[in-house]
Amino acid sequence: MTLVHKNKMKQFLNKKFLFFGGKGGVGKTTSASAFSIFASSCGKRVLLVSTDPAHSIGDIFKIDIGPREKLIKENLWGIEIDPELEAKNYINRIKNSLSKTISPILMDEIKRQIDVAYLSPGAEEGATFDKFIELMNRIDEGTYDIIVFDTAPTGHTLRLLSLPEILEKWIDNLFKKRRVALSLKKSVKKIKEGVDIRMDDDPILRILKVRKQKFQDARKLLLNKEFTSYIFVLNPERLPIIETKKAIEILSKYKIPIGGIIVNRILPEKTGEFLRKRKEVEKEYLNLIKTNFNNLILTYIPLLERDVYGIEILEEITKYF
Ligand SMILES: Nc1ncnc2c1ncn2[C@@H]1O[C@H](COP(=O)(O)OP(=O)(O)OP(=O)(O)O)[C@@H](O)[C@H]1O
Ligand SMILES: [Mg+2]
Repeated sequence: MTLVHKNKMKQFLNKKFLFFGGKGGVGKTTSASAFSIFASSCGKRVLLVSTDPAHSIGDIFKIDIGPREKLIKENLWGIEIDPELEAKNYINRIKNSLSKTISPILMDEIKRQIDVAYLSPGAEEGATFDKFIELMNRIDEGTYDIIVFDTAPTGHTLRLLSLPEILEKWIDNLFKKRRVALSLKKSVKKIKEGVDIRMDDDPILRILKVRKQKFQDARKLLLNKEFTSYIFVLNPERLPIIETKKAIEILSKYKIPIGGIIVNRILPEKTGEFLRKRKEVEKEYLNLIKTNFNNLILTYIPLLERDVYGIEILEEITKYF
């Protein structure tokens, strides 16, 4: 079977946001890192973002990366998002900005409300997404041309991508609670002092409104075919094929633009008895991949003699792009 690849990865050099997803261990980090090297050597300024809590981009490039953008090589930067840290930073930013506008007595009550929101489900993911949005804005600022996201295994990523929608609901919910709290206070105040509280002036409602708008903007960008593509990595094996099929269906439902699939770890042709048998099995799966994903196939990457570690080996992989 001839496995052709015809420079199909080049089309993604014009995108702004590129996601690499797939089942655990199929080669997401490898492909995202190799593409980042490819794009940066084509002159694009690239930010490689790891959203996988078990970060490994630092490992593959043999340097410490961490939660701040760090230069890896010419035109290539990396960052590993830390959800816990982002949630803490986010909460502190809100508290600080509020304490400037609100009386200390009221602030104590509000701080308590914020702390409760921080502990509620969705807060860390929400903060991760805030970081996402912050990074996405760097494109507008002209710092980067492309942001490449090395994502966590499929389930986690699908959740992350469906987040704007989930978070908007979460915010609506907070919104409702805040409104109830306010209207209670409003009636008490009106009875006691004859003064009315205006909902529009409430700083928390204002923050929630801004946040919701930010999520909506991000969602628009993520759904825009011109800017965003989602690339699946898989191996010629049963489970990754099944999982990719399902994931493509889910992403299509969310209307997230699918860029195609990378078939990684293709066995070499000339091999002994054992590998020859494996190669037979592989052929069946490669056929299945062709039937299922026909025009989505972007490239085939062979199984290398050793695991992927360091820039030289990643550069070798870019030959298949
Ligand atoms: N084409 C290849 N040839 C040889 N080894 C490979 C190849 N692609 C990936 N590997 C190795 O397979 C392992 C998994 O790859 P990688 O970390 O890129 O997968 P992943 O999908 O990001 O995994 P995870 O789901 O854990 O994040 C690594 O040890 C990597 O070096
Ligand atoms: Mg990985």
